[in-house]
Amino acid sequence: MKVLHTVREVVEWRTKNIDPRTHKSGFVPTMGCLHEGHLTLMRAAKRENDFAIASIFVNPSQFAPTEDLDKYPRTLDDDIKLLEAEGVDVCFAPNAREMYPQGIPLQVEEQRGPFVTVLGVSEQLEGRTRPNFFRGVATVVTKLLNIVAPTRAYFGQKDFQQFTVLQVMARELFMNTELRMMPIVRDDAGLALSSRNRYLCGETLGRARSIYKGLSAAAALLEQADASGAERTALLERVHAHWAPYENSGEFKVDYVSIADAATLQELEPRVSRDRDVVISCAVYVTDAEHPATVVRLIDNILVHAV
Ligand code: PAJ
Repeated sequence: MKVLHTVREVVEWRTKNIDPRTHKSGFVPTMGCLHEGHLTLMRAAKRENDFAIASIFVNPSQFAPTEDLDKYPRTLDDDIKLLEAEGVDVCFAPNAREMYPQGIPLQVEEQRGPFVTVLGVSEQLEGRTRPNFFRGVATVVTKLLNIVAPTRAYFGQKDFQQFTVLQVMARELFMNTELRMMPIVRDDAGLALSSRNRYLCGETLGRARSIYKGLSAAAALLEQADASGAERTALLERVHAHWAPYENSGEFKVDYVSIADAATLQELEPRVSRDRDVVISCAVYVTDAEHPATVVRLIDNILVHAV
């Protein structure tokens, strides 16, 4: 596998090796600290294309000044070994200057240069708690797609709103890449794999598994309903029934639970009908039992398809 650090190297490699008329290329953007969730995306990129390209870049513009940019885990050497084992052809690992030639101050007012904003699907849910997050994601993914120019790019359902934002962006900016969404990879007890899980002790991870149990209970109720659907309040009760012990003890602080139209991310109420795909999603701050100063924000979701 080639590890390339500059835009120029990537463009040179692809123009030399990939003829877009005859070769298909699959691209997986990541922020590294790779786990099985990322690796399933690599396998799909490999399986469905002639070349697989990954990127590892902890993108400063999607972090707020208060967030964990400095603490975000960086494990480049291990990541490279994992990508190599999957047969990935190229790993692009640029530094911040390479991606943001004008520099990238964390304070939004000090930033210069082009940014990509996708209105309508970025303000709610994750966007409410993390105001410039999707602007950072859309901008860096645009840059990466322009550099790599892949046939297809692969993303996880784990970040459902991220995929929605990027899909609207790619479609409405007439980008020449097909975006593909792959299912969430979970551990044996249903916890969605995340780079941030490593901050939590075993006992807390055990409790965090009830996040998925709550969402599953609501999804099951909705799936049993006929086309007229279910009451939103009944679905929310199902979720909180599983979380109540930890909400009451203060270990879970719920940022949001959303029951929304999967295409528009508009909340559905008072009834959730099954004439459209529905996404039940949440973000929960989980406090570690052994280190109460450690609080990790976990997200998860389940898609319930229209009938
Ligand atoms: P990162 O968090 O590293 O995730 C890279 C990709 O892996 C995303 O598409 C994410 O949805 C997917 N992923 C993470 N955990 C997963 C799991 N348990 N199952 C399936 N897929 C999973 O998302 C980002 O990076 C960044 O925002 C990025 C798109 C790279 C832009 O900077």
